[in-house]
Amino acid sequence: MSCSECDGLEVALAADHAGFDLKELIKQHVTERGILPLDLGTDSRRSVEYPDYARRVCEAILTGTVARGILICGTGLGMSMMANRYKGIRAALCHDHYTAAASRRHNDANVLVMGGRVLGTDLAREIVDTWLQTPFEGGRHDKRIRQFDD
Ligand code: RB5
Repeated sequence: MSCSECDGLEVALAADHAGFDLKELIKQHVTERGILPLDLGTDSRRSVEYPDYARRVCEAILTGTVARGILICGTGLGMSMMANRYKGIRAALCHDHYTAAASRRHNDANVLVMGGRVLGTDLAREIVDTWLQTPFEGGRHDKRIRQFDD
C-alpha cells in the first residue's frame, strides 16, 4: 500500500485483553504497509481495564506524538465511549468499509475503533487499510466537525 495519506504516518495502537490478538495482527499488518506503529499495550490476554488503554492513545494524539490511533476491545463500544470523551478526539467505531471510509471523508476520524470479538481478521485488515488511505474531504464537513469542540 502506498498513499499520500499514509506516507510517514505513525499510528498508536492499544487494546484490552479482548482486543489483544487483533491488535497484534494489525500491528504486523500496518508495519508491512510501511507505517510505524506505536504499541501502547496491552501486552497479553490478561484482563485489564479498557479505559486505561483508550486514554493512552488519546493522549498520544493530543500531545502530538502521533496523528492517528487504533483502539480495539471486545465490541469496540467501551473504547469508543471513552475515547470520545476527549476534546479533539474523533473516534469512529467501524465494522465495515463504508463507515470506515466515511469516518475519514466526512468526520476526519483520528481514532479507528474495532471489536476484536466482532470482526474476522481479513475484514479487520481491510477496514484498517481503507481507514488509513481515505483522506478527509474538508469543505462543509470541516465546519461540522469544528462544532464538536465549540
Ligand atoms: C471485556 O470483556 C469487554 O467488556 C470489553 O473488551 C469491551 O467490549 C467493552 O466495551
